[in-house]
Amino acid sequence: MSDKAIAGGHLHGWMKTTRSDPWWVRPTAIGFCFLIFGAYSTWAAFQGNHYWYGSYLSPFYSPVLFVDISAFGSAPLEHSWLGLWPGWWPSLLPASPALLILAFPLSFRATCYYYRKAYYQAMAHTPPACTVGPFPKKPYRGETKLLLLQNFHRYTLYFALIFIGILWYDAFVSFFRDGEFGVGVGSIILTLNATFLGLYTTSCHSFRHIVGGRKNSFNCDGCTTASYGAWKKVSFLNSNHMVYAWISLFWVGFTDLYIRMVSMGFITDFNTWN
Ligand code: FES
Repeated sequence: MSDKAIAGGHLHGWMKTTRSDPWWVRPTAIGFCFLIFGAYSTWAAFQGNHYWYGSYLSPFYSPVLFVDISAFGSAPLEHSWLGLWPGWWPSLLPASPALLILAFPLSFRATCYYYRKAYYQAMAHTPPACTVGPFPKKPYRGETKLLLLQNFHRYTLYFALIFIGILWYDAFVSFFRDGEFGVGVGSIILTLNATFLGLYTTSCHSFRHIVGGRKNSFNCDGCTTASYGAWKKVSFLNSNHMVYAWISLFWVGFTDLYIRMVSMGFITDFNTWN
């Protein structure tokens, strides 16, 4: 019974399919990337050190709300928004500024429409690919019950837009050291990071809705040329949302790794200041 074809040509059973192409490569590769990024970003967030070098600030730690200036490679006190590390922080947790802010970018990524499809397929196998049998534990019921929380994506977008402004500020600051303008490999990496994350955020489906997609029809009364023009521009970005999602994910991790390696003295940052 489990291998019998059913209506639509699908087969019953986990990973059963009539497909003969290597359909499993894509979800496996995506799952692998999620595991690598998740492991590295969690490890980096719990370090609480080596997130600053010269005028470079790791995006995992931006903005720095409080700073523990005794940590190696920590941001200077004047870069902290609220001052020294607070005494109320639980001693079981490391004094890491990343732990105070990572929920905002993480919730934006985790509820992204594209990533939802990607990790539902790669991690939960609901189903792993089109016309391939799902993991049999429970029947797929769509985004109901707990998964209704995914609807918060539209609100996490507002925080993501604020963070993009902060990351552009960090990129700008990275071109100055002790008041002197200069360029380093790190400044370029941070500028690209703000660019990629900006493209990812402004290609978001919810952002497209905000700028011009709130109307049922652009032919209706009250529709403006401006909103239609904005909707078309964001729609162009939106058609590449998956590409921006992966480039920005890779680059934000690479940016943290680069600054960490330079701060620890493992690699040299070539720049115009030295
Ligand atoms: S849909 Fe992907 S970030 Fe909004």
